[in-house]
Amino acid sequence: MARMRTPVRPLLLLLALPCCTATAGAAVPGSGAQAAGTRAASLYQRMGGAPVVSAVVAETIDAVVADPRLNQSFKGSNLRRVKQLLAEQLCELAGGGCTYGGDTMRQVHAGHHIGEAEFYGLVAQLRSALRRHGVRLRERNELLALLAPMKRDVVDVPVPAPAGPPTQVEER
Ligand code: HEM
Repeated sequence: MARMRTPVRPLLLLLALPCCTATAGAAVPGSGAQAAGTRAASLYQRMGGAPVVSAVVAETIDAVVADPRLNQSFKGSNLRRVKQLLAEQLCELAGGGCTYGGDTMRQVHAGHHIGEAEFYGLVAQLRSALRRHGVRLRERNELLALLAPMKRDVVDVPVPAPAGPPTQVEER
């Protein structure tokens, strides 16, 4: 009996497409298997790409802002900007091909008196949103491992001292 030919070619073509950009479409969560001869899918793709990441970011920020234990620092912030830049940052970190255009984490969070409880509170919201959107444990952990080192630039960051007069008398 003649065997049916499987449509391998279109599939290979799809896998060989260059990686996504900020505006790239969705990748299927969990589609990260590395086919022979193709590049491994980025974490960004494996999480579901731009649609999933922007939804996750929006839900995380909305949940944090709605929680009186976590929202103190957000009073007066431009939430649209925060969401857009956080999505861009996650895209860059996860290999999605974006370039983060915001300020440094130290600059942004300095003087907001963000404590550890707030940091872990936001991370917990992020975890739940990722789970709701079907992002698997492995990808959730990969993303959190990328964010963990930023804690030192978010929690209890003092405002840099303004440049004042020199404290020592200069000698000629
Ligand atoms: C790893 C964790 C975090 C990341 C990656 C992160 C990332 C960002 C980004 C990308 C922005 C926008 C940058 C810009 O405007 O140029 C931002 C702003 C901000 N973030 Fe975070 N953030 C984190 C944790 C937190 C936590 C725990 C809080 C407080 C609960 C917080 C409070 C804020 C506030 C209040 C702003 C706006 C500041 C302003 O309006 O001047 N962030 N964050």
